[in-house]
Amino acid sequence: MTITLTVNDARHTLDVDPATPLLYVLRNQLRLDGAKFGCGLGQCGACTVNVGGEAVFSCLLPVAAIGERPVRTLEGLGSAQHPSRLQQAFIDKQAAQCGYCIAGMIMRAQTLLERSPHPDEATIRRHMEPNLCRCGTHMRILAAIREAAGGANS
Ligand code: FES
Ligand code: FES
Repeated sequence: MTITLTVNDARHTLDVDPATPLLYVLRNQLRLDGAKFGCGLGQCGACTVNVGGEAVFSCLLPVAAIGERPVRTLEGLGSAQHPSRLQQAFIDKQAAQCGYCIAGMIMRAQTLLERSPHPDEATIRRHMEPNLCRCGTHMRILAAIREAAGGANS
């Protein structure tokens, strides 16, 4: 089946099984490997990307269900040379240990900051709850999000 997908402002026409999870299309066909395969079951958040302004588990979302909604991935935020404010905050706070969860963490946080640029601590914690970090760097991740949000406790 032919599907048209907008990813990071670029249109792509793909020949793909409509049931293919978005994560596989991003990684295998578009070569965007920021989002990671963790559990494949909607339980870890490593695969989180932004679809139509919402943080979604791309391991669960069939590519045919996306429709016209734009997809944004970590690669759409910034680059190593020109990181976004949020990416820079993750660097400044050394929020990554192994780094496997970080693309998903950043994309989930990004959806919050786009909706609410200065969220309070409780809102940040509640919003980030679906994403897990097996290295246990949650406190640094929270500090990075607070910094990007201009919070006083960063
Ligand atoms: Fe998608 Fe774990 S890989 S939620
Ligand atoms: Fe290793 Fe989060 S930094 S899983």
